[in-house]
Order: sequence, then C-alpha cells, then structure tokens
Amino acid sequence: MPNPSLSVLCVASECFPLIKTGGLADVVGALPLALERIGVKVTVFLPGYPDVLSGLTDKRTLVRLKDFPKGQARLVTGKTITGLKIIALDAPELFSFSGNPYQTQSGEDRADNAYKFSLFSKIAADIANGDIGRKRYDVLHAHDWQTGLAAVYLHLRGITDIKTIFTIHNLAFQGVFPNSILSEICLPESYMSRDGLEYWDKVSFLKGGVVYSDHITTVSPTYALEIQSDAEGMGFGGLLRSKAQNLSGILNGIDIDVWNPQTDTEIPHPYSAANLSGKKKNKAALQKAMGLRVAPNAPLFSVISRLTTQKGLDLLADLTDQIVENGGQLILLGSGDSEIENTFRNAEQKHPSEISVTIGYNEPLAHKIQAGSDAILIPSRFEPCGLTQLCAMRYGTVPIVGRVGGLSDTIIDAGPMALASGVATGVQFSPINLHMFSAAIRRSILHYATPKIWNKMVENCLAQDVSWEHSAQLYKVLYASSL
Ligand code: ADP
Ligand code: GLC
Repeated sequence: MPNPSLSVLCVASECFPLIKTGGLADVVGALPLALERIGVKVTVFLPGYPDVLSGLTDKRTLVRLKDFPKGQARLVTGKTITGLKIIALDAPELFSFSGNPYQTQSGEDRADNAYKFSLFSKIAADIANGDIGRKRYDVLHAHDWQTGLAAVYLHLRGITDIKTIFTIHNLAFQGVFPNSILSEICLPESYMSRDGLEYWDKVSFLKGGVVYSDHITTVSPTYALEIQSDAEGMGFGGLLRSKAQNLSGILNGIDIDVWNPQTDTEIPHPYSAANLSGKKKNKAALQKAMGLRVAPNAPLFSVISRLTTQKGLDLLADLTDQIVENGGQLILLGSGDSEIENTFRNAEQKHPSEISVTIGYNEPLAHKIQAGSDAILIPSRFEPCGLTQLCAMRYGTVPIVGRVGGLSDTIIDAGPMALASGVATGVQFSPINLHMFSAAIRRSILHYATPKIWNKMVENCLAQDVSWEHSAQLYKVLYASSL
C-alpha cells in the first residue's frame, strides 16, 4: 500500500515556466503537478537564477545559510504561477547571471559549473535530510548531471533511508571535470575509484547519480534499452548494464494545460478535434506572419529544436530543395550550431516565399508553429524521449521522426498495416541518414496528398493521450516501492 503522505524533493537545474533550455524544464514543470494530483507531495529545488527568483509568487525566506562557502546565501520558498512548490537557492555569487545557465554567450561551458552544481547538490541532500528547511523527505528525485552528486552527498553521510531516484534525460551530457575538483567540493579521494565517480581519469557527476542512487530512470523504454548497449551507451553502456535491475524507462508526458489548442492564448484561432477549421486558419495566419506564400494545400513542415548533431537537422539542410520542389514549405525555429544555423539561413534566402527560418528561442512562436503547421520534422540521431512530437500530436500536427528512443515509442509509423487498421500517427524512418529521411519526406508528401489517409493520421494524433497521467502513476509506484 503506497504511503499516503509520500513526500518528494525534486532536484533540477531547470523548471518551466521559470527557467528553460529544453525538455528537462518541461518535465520538471509538469511531472510534479501530475504527482500532486495523485496525492504525492512534491517540492522542487532549483538554483536561484534571477528569472527563478523573480518568477516566484508568495516568496519568502525559509532560512539564511550561515556557513555557505561562497558569499551570502539563503533558501527562498515560493510558488510558480502554475502552482508548483519551489525552494530556490539564492546565492548571488553563484547564480546571479542571466542567459544560458551552463554556457557563456560565446558557447564556452561556465568555469564554475562543477563547483556551483556540486554545492547545489550538497544543499539538496541537506534539505532532503531535514538539516535545513523544516522537514525531511521520503524521496530525493534528481535530474541529469547537474544534480548527480546529491545522492553522493547522502552516501557520504551514510544516509540510507531517503530513497534516491536519478533520471537521465540525456546521456550525452555527463558532467565531466578534472579530478582536482574533489577536494574543492568536499568529497574524499576514495570517491575517485572505478566503482565511484572516476571516469577516464576524470570525475563524472552523471556517474555519481548512476552509481549512488537507488534507482535510475530514463525518459522512454526504448532509450533505457539503447543506453545499455556499447554502441549507444556513450561510454556508460557497461555500467548501465550492470544496473539493469534498477534501471527503467518511463515515458515523458507534456502539460496538456500549457499545450491545449482549445485554450492556447498564443494562437490566433483556437480549435479542437471536433472542429479543425481553426487549424486551417492558423496555418494561413502563420504562413502570412512568416512571409510565406499563403497556400492552404501546400504541406507545411516545421522544426522547433535545438540545432545540434543530436537532432539530425544537418540532414534536413540538404533536403530543403526537395521539399520546395515537391510543393512543400518549411518553417524552422531553433538555435545552436552556427554552421547548421547558416545552412538554413541560406535555404531561406534561396526560397524566401517557401522557407522561413527564425534563429533564436521563442516560446509563443513555438505554439503558433505547432498550431499552424501540417507536420513536424524530428530526424534525431538519438532522442531520449522528445517532447515536440507530443506537443505536435496534441495540436493535430503529424510527426515525421527518426525511429530512435522515445520517438519510436510514441509514434506509430504509417506503414501498410498501420494504415490498413487506421492507427498511424506519423512517419518513422531508420536508419537515420539522408536517404531514408528523404524517402520519409517523400512518403509524407504522398500521404498529405491523400486526404483520407492524412486526415485519419491527424485525427489519431489528436486522440493520443500525451498527458502525464499514466507516467506519474509509474513514478508514484517507484517512489513508494521498498520505502
Ligand atoms: P530537448 O530537450 O532535447 O531539446 P525536447 O523535445 O525534449 O528536446 O524538448 C524541447 C523543448 O524545448 C520543447 O518544449 C520545445 O518546444 C522547446 N524548444 C526547443 N527549441 C525551441 C525554440 N527555439 N524556441 C522555443 N521553444 C523551443
Ligand atoms: C532531453 C532529451 C529529450 C527529452 C528531454 C526531457 O533534453 O534530449 O529527448 O525529451 O530531455 O526528458
């Protein structure tokens, strides 16, 4: 019988709507709300970036941290406008800067990343244990490398009665630092071992989370299997295989209130599955706003993404002519690798009435694109879960995706069998290369030209449950097991 008053300290470096660079923030902003709805008490612990502190309501000082090693610090409690309970570490010497939390404007990792995230993780362990703040927690749930040391600090103190869960959102980010960091962050040399934090003669914070947590989750069942292989384990395959008994994949959901085509204030024409006329109007409005030819029957493809090798968008850069030559259009919103950015800028210059490229991060525009486009392109080389395909389905926008990770778990390919039984929700391709991606785009354009097929896919997308409801239950069971 699950403990009715189960309390969880969720520790992360991002949380929508306060601070976001990607899907991690969406998960940390939405999963705790879904857990609260099923009776789990969740508090989210975050670094006190200016946007975090200014975004809190009912803000007050919980405690001033007397022996903090880096200037003044206090814990601040408050709520997000979405109703999430937050504790923030207000430590101006560590966190009072704006912009990307991990990198400087020139794209370099911030020099004090190791120090500040280890201190943040140490305070997380203290809060979980009730040393600071008012209560002790049953579970410490930490996300990604920035918080990997929280379980290590509990281990250092011999605390074993707080259950530790560590979620890997992306194995590519491993938090690797020179081993000289250990003395700075108050961890004894004994942790520098193969069974500890040592990773190719350096220290990995991600490894800390994997080795010292009671259970590891990742964000889709397929990614949980992929990362246990040498080919896709990014150096962690063997270690993760050895943890197989305590490793599971739980699919992400999205916040279906934030992403709701019926109530979305960012889109000009709200709509629902019952009446899709608004979607057509949003398409026309989007084409107009982005300077494209207003063409109701042109398949409008979109991209909303970080522009990195992970996302495979360098492949798309070679296929823009193909899309245009086949009567399609493309709207891209994203930022990242400057080489990829430039190739898309060039494509836009070549086809100004068919391709629109916006380099940058723009939340309202992301909603307008989801609502107005016909299909979203996600040719990822690997994808732990992916959220944009879930948002797309919620808006009746058909995902065209690489068959990897969470993309393979969430999309049903429009192959002959799925079409015959009327269950397709998108187009998948594999392996991830130019040839197969090109064929997938061709196949999508053909399906688009057959309204019976396309409309059925749109209908199926809109009928998918992309909420957190089911997965929150799985986390609840995991938290409660063996407590
Ligand atoms: P990842 O976390 O790997 O970047 P996900 O698909 O899990 O990929 O999550 C990406 C999130 O970030 C989604 O909410 C998506 O809408 C958002 N996003 C990505 N790029 C942009 C952008 N340029 N502008 C606005 N939102 C973006
Ligand atoms: C990471 C992954 C993405 C996942 C997100 C949230 O950023 O790249 O696939 O959806 O985390 O878990």
